[in-house]
Amino acid sequence: MAEKIIENDCLSQLAILNPTHFQRRKEFIVSNQPTLDLMAIHDYVFEHSVRDDELLRALREETAGDEMARMQIAPEQGQFMALLVKLIGARRILEIGTFTGYSSLCMARALPEDGEMICCDLDPTWTGMAQRYWQQAGVDHKIKLVLAPALDTLNALQESGQQDAFDLAFIDADKENYDLYYEACLSLIRPSGLILLDNMLWSGRVADTSVNDADTRALRALNMKLKNDQRIDLSLLTLADGLTIARKRQTDENQ
Ligand SMILES: C[S@@+](CC[C@H](N)C(=O)[O-])C[C@H]1O[C@@H](n2cnc3c(N)ncnc32)[C@H](O)[C@@H]1O
Repeated sequence: MAEKIIENDCLSQLAILNPTHFQRRKEFIVSNQPTLDLMAIHDYVFEHSVRDDELLRALREETAGDEMARMQIAPEQGQFMALLVKLIGARRILEIGTFTGYSSLCMARALPEDGEMICCDLDPTWTGMAQRYWQQAGVDHKIKLVLAPALDTLNALQESGQQDAFDLAFIDADKENYDLYYEACLSLIRPSGLILLDNMLWSGRVADTSVNDADTRALRALNMKLKNDQRIDLSLLTLADGLTIARKRQTDENQ
């Protein structure tokens, strides 16, 4: 009862301060969606759902020593992406942006023994660390690392006739090129395959109209494009920094 009163009190304040948000929040409550504070329950989710192990922990700890460590995906996201790999029975994966290898390690372990992953990056030091962990995990035979601008790699794959040849693509590199990566991946993955795009909430900056740098504008424009793109089914998850799942529709598929 006390909680209900507090909730109602907050809602009436919100109605005055921000009527648009109030309307959305009201719809949220009326439609009986969970109203959890994701920050507050993050530790709980980690402790009760993330199946961590020595190798993943060691890679996170070693990466933490790098000043760009924040680029690494979150553990719960890695686990979720591994689940997606298994759910769609993926055998061939494209990764754009490998860094020290956390996302590729999670996905490669979920691939079958004869599965393949092409990892695109530019940096030999970061990916050198990734290679060490792939070896330790015994998945290095599944992974081909290509050190070149990812657009060149994706174009070369298209030119060599690899359209519809991949099951899943994960985009996690320079944000200004995301749309180009998306278009290339859409051609390279098969119908019903998935494209995952990381950082689509960009620490909330996409929703903050006072932020207008090139990366934020690129992600904002892409979110809007994806919303209206009839070639895909779509969900933008509030997982980690925002993970978009785009499923390539079959031609003539019901929407
Ligand atoms: C956010 S990090 C990737 C994080 C990684 N997925 C993980 O789980 O740790 C982005 C990576 O994209 C790479 N990158 C940036 N621009 C690139 C480009 N044009 N082509 C290929 N890789 C690029 C960077 O070198 C960096 O390693």
